[in-house]
Amino acid sequence: MAAGLAHELNQPLTAIGNNLHTAMSMEKQKNNPDPELLEMMQENYESSQRAGQIIHSLRQMVSKEGGTKEAHDINQLVLTTANLISPEALAASVDIKLYLTDDLPSIMLEAVQIQQVIVNLGRNAIEAFIDQRQSDGRSATKCDANIMIRTELLDDKNIHVSVSDNGSGLRPDIEAELFHPYVTSKASGMGLGLSICRSIIESHGGRLWHDSAYNVGTKFCFTIPITVQEQ
Ligand SMILES: Nc1ncnc2c1ncn2[C@@H]1O[C@H](COP(=O)(O)OP(=O)(O)OP(=O)(O)O)[C@@H](O)[C@H]1O
Ligand SMILES: [Mg+2]
Repeated sequence: MAAGLAHELNQPLTAIGNNLHTAMSMEKQKNNPDPELLEMMQENYESSQRAGQIIHSLRQMVSKEGGTKEAHDINQLVLTTANLISPEALAASVDIKLYLTDDLPSIMLEAVQIQQVIVNLGRNAIEAFIDQRQSDGRSATKCDANIMIRTELLDDKNIHVSVSDNGSGLRPDIEAELFHPYVTSKASGMGLGLSICRSIIESHGGRLWHDSAYNVGTKFCFTIPITVQEQ
């Protein structure tokens, strides 16, 4: 089903990307192109490209071909991923704080997939803050909502990454089946994010879990093994 869905989504996504590209060229040819409009179109174009990459990597994952893993600096990857979710975080008055340990060894990974894991975890935290405020009847004026992304060395064989927030924590009825597909507390959620994250991390030889000892919000951790790069 996932492969079919990925295939079906590819066509409209390509059309969105192509149309945006044409629209940008048309706007640039005008006497007074609107810089804000151009910037918005450029961002949407980049998002459509990224969605295409995600679908490509999902197809590779389900086809068991496996994507291409390359050596990456995890801190650099976290930085670019934080930039991807920062517009959503900003719109929801959520601060993203990074705690990146220097001089970590580079690790073999498929960048689009690991980015997807961090995006899913970060987005869940943002959505939790939004839901919490809606049920409290509060508006997002004061910035007291934080997401912390931390990288560190777990031991000489593994890198440890955590994404935590100071939100409401998990709903107790959700916790037991958190990683099961279609388990969601959201009206428009599919309940697929965490199960996809876990498959991605396991396909990298790592582990992903919810840290139930963390009691000031929600914390997810994952590891990625440090492997010697193949020559
Ligand atoms: N940071 C968090 N704070 C509070 N609850 C969370 C957090 N992360 C996940 N959850 C809970 O876990 C559930 C499952 O998350 P998951 O990402 O798998 O699905 P979803 O976000 O509901 O839908 P989808 O990701 O498919 O759009 C969420 O519906 C929410 O109840
Ligand atoms: Mg989710």
